[in-house]
Amino acid sequence: MISIKNVLCNQSVKKHSFALKSFGFRFLFIFFTLTVTSLIVTPVHAIFHVYAPSDPILRTSYAIDDNEQKFGNIPKALRFDCHPEDGASQLSCTNRGCCWNPIDDDNDSENMYRLDAPFCYYPEDWPGYEFINSTIKGNDFSGFLIRKVKSFYNDDIPVIKMETTTLSDSILRVKINDPQSPRYEPPWPVKSNWETSRVKDSSPKYIFQTDSSRPGFAIKRAADNNTIFDAIGKGGFIFSERFLQISSLLPSHNIYGLGEHRTKLKLNTNWNSFTMFNKDQPPTEQANLYGSHPFYIVIEDSGDCHGVLFLNSNAMDIILQPAPAITFRTIGGILDFYFFMGPTPADVLRQYAEIVGKPFFPPYWSLGFHLCQLGYGSVSRTREVWNRTRNAGIPFDTQWNDIDYMENRNDFTYDKKNFKDLPQFVDEIHSMGMHYIPMIDAGVAVAEKAGTYLPYDEGLRDDVFVKDAETNQPFTGKVWNPIATVWPDFTHPNSTAYYFRMLKSMHDMFAFDGLWIDMNEPSNFLNGKVNGCTYNKLDYPQYVPHVVDRLLATKTLCMNAKHHLGSHYNLHNTYGTGQAIAANLAMRKIRSKRPFIISRSTWEGAGHYAGHWTGDIYSSWHDLRMSIPEVLSYSLYQVPMVGADICGFDGNASVSLCNRWVQLGAFYPFARNHNSDDTIVQDPVAMGDLVVESAKKALMIRYRFLPYLYTLFFKAHKFGDTVARPLFVEFTNDRNTYSIDKQFLWGRSLMIIPVLEENEVEVTAYIPPGPWYDFYSKAFTFSKGENFTLKAPLDTIPLMIRGGSILPGQTPNVTTTLSRKNKFELLVALDGNGFASGELYWDDGDSLDSFEKQQFRWLNFTVKDQKLTSRKVEKGGLSQDMILGRVSVMGISRKVHRVFLNDNSSIPFMYNKRRLYLNVRGLHVDLKRNFTLSWAFEE
Ligand code: NOJ
Repeated sequence: MISIKNVLCNQSVKKHSFALKSFGFRFLFIFFTLTVTSLIVTPVHAIFHVYAPSDPILRTSYAIDDNEQKFGNIPKALRFDCHPEDGASQLSCTNRGCCWNPIDDDNDSENMYRLDAPFCYYPEDWPGYEFINSTIKGNDFSGFLIRKVKSFYNDDIPVIKMETTTLSDSILRVKINDPQSPRYEPPWPVKSNWETSRVKDSSPKYIFQTDSSRPGFAIKRAADNNTIFDAIGKGGFIFSERFLQISSLLPSHNIYGLGEHRTKLKLNTNWNSFTMFNKDQPPTEQANLYGSHPFYIVIEDSGDCHGVLFLNSNAMDIILQPAPAITFRTIGGILDFYFFMGPTPADVLRQYAEIVGKPFFPPYWSLGFHLCQLGYGSVSRTREVWNRTRNAGIPFDTQWNDIDYMENRNDFTYDKKNFKDLPQFVDEIHSMGMHYIPMIDAGVAVAEKAGTYLPYDEGLRDDVFVKDAETNQPFTGKVWNPIATVWPDFTHPNSTAYYFRMLKSMHDMFAFDGLWIDMNEPSNFLNGKVNGCTYNKLDYPQYVPHVVDRLLATKTLCMNAKHHLGSHYNLHNTYGTGQAIAANLAMRKIRSKRPFIISRSTWEGAGHYAGHWTGDIYSSWHDLRMSIPEVLSYSLYQVPMVGADICGFDGNASVSLCNRWVQLGAFYPFARNHNSDDTIVQDPVAMGDLVVESAKKALMIRYRFLPYLYTLFFKAHKFGDTVARPLFVEFTNDRNTYSIDKQFLWGRSLMIIPVLEENEVEVTAYIPPGPWYDFYSKAFTFSKGENFTLKAPLDTIPLMIRGGSILPGQTPNVTTTLSRKNKFELLVALDGNGFASGELYWDDGDSLDSFEKQQFRWLNFTVKDQKLTSRKVEKGGLSQDMILGRVSVMGISRKVHRVFLNDNSSIPFMYNKRRLYLNVRGLHVDLKRNFTLSWAFEE
């Protein structure tokens, strides 16, 4: 007996053949033209691929229900949603040519999928487009597809072109566009000169496949023939004017990325939608937040990894479903994919960095502790907090001010009454070797009297504001400024010079060191304009992704607002990055030192110009916990300079929460305590002795290891490596690490295990296989890959050092300026074979292009056969002294009898037999020269 659902599905397939006939004639001409003009037509027989039910992806990932198999029906996990709009009904579904099959809750054995598997889904091989020809030139494919059926969405593009570009052995671009009328592509990230850097005659690590009768494409890993992306005939492939969709099977459930969202680090593939549309939205689950990073990384079942970047800046939904499968559903632009073949996570991230750009190299001081609050209200209040933090002996480098320092909350000004001493205060901060950062909002004030506020007058003159589509005048909304606000258009050719001039005039007033750019989603207190947005096809497109409130202009500009490079509809997600670029260029020119910009809104490649903080989080234990996956996800997006507001932004932090948060925050790559003006004061001193003790203790450790952290930032900048690192990046072959997001690493060597529950003084952590050392007690643990319970007294954050590592450090002081004057230290943690290695990159910490100008020292340290040796990784000519004062070695199990420096002189040392710990202090080793330090055992 055929079930009702099958009958409906069969009917829907018939509808398609009907639709095809009625559109056939329109395509004849185009089909003819393209076939004739395509001179070298190579049919793609060799690359034909069909999924059978026995396909490994289906078999391992999802067991097909007997009934479903019998009736040739589509398993629930493989249903691709054909009715993503609300209000699906049998009629609206079958009218789209789709299958309607509501899930019967009572009889459904797979309750897990009950709530979210779509009732309305595409029939198998929904025939959206088919190839009419294709050619292969060298490694690259190019083919035209024509539309076979009309989709439900307006203005399907009749002919589309798919082409691949082999960017390297490991990077493949697959681009699907309208060949007749090129569509919007985001201006950033700026693509490098691929044509010349492309590897000719390479042997790619991927195989690209198409099937002439079905749209989509598939990618296999050449080494093992594993399919990593299979979008051939999956779901509903649609390429219409404002609805583009492609779905693919995924090779595993181990998927990470797709930010900015509040989720666990490892994403849930059980019907999960990730909407990308930058929004001023306090982080909550399921909401689109400040940034958009349509990039993911997957660990395949073999342990190999790949990454995929969907370079599209329009509002979109990305859906994960339990097949496992993914759908990209965007409302503009083109389908532009980059595949990164890894095979390790670090390889994937380095390859991805080649496309989006590597992170900026931060000044050394920015690695110190930062302090801020909205609403200090005056210089004297700011100074009070600054002073009390320093007086408490808390390591501290940078004081910040929020918008309350501004005159009328207007950019590029300062309040001449309450902040009249700001210039002097900034000088005072500098005299202590410290730094100062003010906020700049995206919007510029409109309503000041003509001639009194140059940022508006000059912006108008230079024509650099985003324009209202109806009036062609600057688009006007409202943010913090009095009455009204306009927004610079960072795609306008005049905007860079404008921003430079504005920031320069501000810098001439008070010599700030970095910039905090905020409200740059861009955020607007209005939904568009005072009376909303006109009814137009960009603000009210046929499909609206699942943005909060389901209205694109909610708390931002109207989508039809005009930028130099196109509509706000297209450019919205790139706005904050545009501002970061302008700010970065300006600061570079103004200070002739490394720019340091922290931006709330981000987009692909933002990390090349700025860091990020996670916005308006709540002072809660949940928010404390969720800050870790967010920081780790951003490190995947090549934005390693990232942190959350320590102790939370909104709501009042309790002492116990703030205490544990200052400990964790001391290990955020960007460590700043900041909160709102309507909450209690939460700088460490205000929170009392326990928090002060914890802050001092944890930040002193941070400051001790800053040379290590700086080296990690250097490697992020040079290669695209992560700084705060998920465990799976280091231990990819250990599946236990895949879901871990309550602990993380700095680089490969330091594991941070924060306490994330109230009243706990112990924490259970997973320790991956191998030797590890407790940072405090030096106790040695050999883990088989198991959980350990670690002591975590109230003032202590557990830290473990990985055997086999050498961590460079420096005796810490209360500012980075003072710490940098101290001697270096090396902390050696031996592995089971008495081996260890590590690196140190060093330069003056603030100059532009130190590496390019060879003003650096980059050293490698190795311990082997009881001998520590140093060597240069690359030759640099830094003249500054670098003196090593201490070497300590953990894990020496035999009693040390003598220690030698450079093989000749025997030097003093301490050896602790119980702790297996050798400590050599009082050294004065010039790190400019290679040296050796060795130890001998008692006979
Ligand atoms: C929103 C930011 O997220 C927050 O950090 C800041 O304090 C307020 N804007 C006021 O500027």
